[in-house]
Amino acid sequence: MEDISKELLAKFCPPAYPGSFFLSFEGIEGAGKSTQILKLKSFLEEQHFRVLILREPGGTPFGEKLRSAILNTQTPIHPLAEVYLFTASRVQLLDEVTLKELKVPNTVIIYDRYIDSTMAYQGMGRNIGVKTILEIHQNAPLNLIPHLTFYLKISLDTSILRQEKRNQDKDYFESQGRDFYQKLIDGYDMAAELFPHRIVVLEGEKDEAQVSDDIIGHVKQLLLK
Ligand code: TYD
Repeated sequence: MEDISKELLAKFCPPAYPGSFFLSFEGIEGAGKSTQILKLKSFLEEQHFRVLILREPGGTPFGEKLRSAILNTQTPIHPLAEVYLFTASRVQLLDEVTLKELKVPNTVIIYDRYIDSTMAYQGMGRNIGVKTILEIHQNAPLNLIPHLTFYLKISLDTSILRQEKRNQDKDYFESQGRDFYQKLIDGYDMAAELFPHRIVVLEGEKDEAQVSDDIIGHVKQLLLK
């Protein structure tokens, strides 16, 4: 594993607005993020939270332009250009939406992908290095991390099977081969080792209801703090 200093890791902090929470979901294609995000949203709304779901890349007018520039590209993008495009979309979303909304008490912001995607996809998948990704994110507002991140872990074979079943057009990343997907899994494992208190690794192969119960259990603990 790359040598990443405690000083660098210490630059990352969750928001500290009383009564508001920041959560994210991560996983490779087919992990079941969307289903679980909606289930958690319903639970939180029953508890009278105001819930906002944001997706990366995108979520702002400029971010959506970047999203389509990246995901619909017909020509390859340099890995570092990828990093900076995703990061540009992220800063914009943090500044325009996330930081403002978190100031409203009783809000839960749920991100569909965040910094761990960049560690996995660009850091590992594109060989940029996880350390470089963290260094790029070390200053505000990019150093804001969620209170909790749910990594829905599935195997390479399950991901491929679920993608075949969906039978959708493949975007830029979905057209990559097995080696790339294995690197993503390694990248997420590394992120979970670096941020053990934030990232909850869940067995995404399990029954949807069981995974949802696990997630809600962790969120209940966070809300009680
Ligand atoms: P999306 O359609 O949102 O994928 P999914 O439904 O799997 O979440 O497309 C986002 C793609 O961008 C996905 O393949 C992961 C990739 N990605 C990165 O490579 N780096 C990043 O930092 C982020 C946020 C996403």
